[in-house]
Amino acid sequence: MIREVLKMGDERLLAKAKPVEKFDTEEMRSLLADMHDTMEHLNGAGLAAPQIGVGLRVVVFGVKGNPRYPDAEDVPYTVLINPLVEPLSDEMEEGWEGCLSVPGLRGIVPRYSRLRYRGFDAAGNPIDRIAEGFHARVVQHECDHLDGILYPMRVRDFTRFGFIEALFPNQEIHDD
Ligand code: NI
Repeated sequence: MIREVLKMGDERLLAKAKPVEKFDTEEMRSLLADMHDTMEHLNGAGLAAPQIGVGLRVVVFGVKGNPRYPDAEDVPYTVLINPLVEPLSDEMEEGWEGCLSVPGLRGIVPRYSRLRYRGFDAAGNPIDRIAEGFHARVVQHECDHLDGILYPMRVRDFTRFGFIEALFPNQEIHDD
């Protein structure tokens, strides 16, 4: 079921989400199906459970020919529960980000270039991956949602933060 995505300003987006204790329940299956449907419907690169008003440490992400991020490399569709993110070096890189909770806007956000992430899939099996580039960026963005952090809070240079149609007048990037 496609769910409503909360918008920045809603205090539920600022709360710290709680760890999942039981995997593979009917409730969890239905949450994951809703997150998948909602993200797909809105062409999101990822979605965190708090964005649909569920305060649990669950994120989904994946990119394949996404019209909201035409230049991004593919990222496999992933369900990641109770994630742990560990940067593998101090190196950071800047890149454009948007968020379904902040529609119509884009900003340049510094993120760690390379990281290891761990967590569990829908069935409770462990996930342990190394990621870089856009994949690493998406993981950091989605996991930030679990701690109540939205990407505009990480923008340092507000000369590169604004409305999509003003920033990229010659590109077809739709956000809704
Ligand atoms: Ni987001």
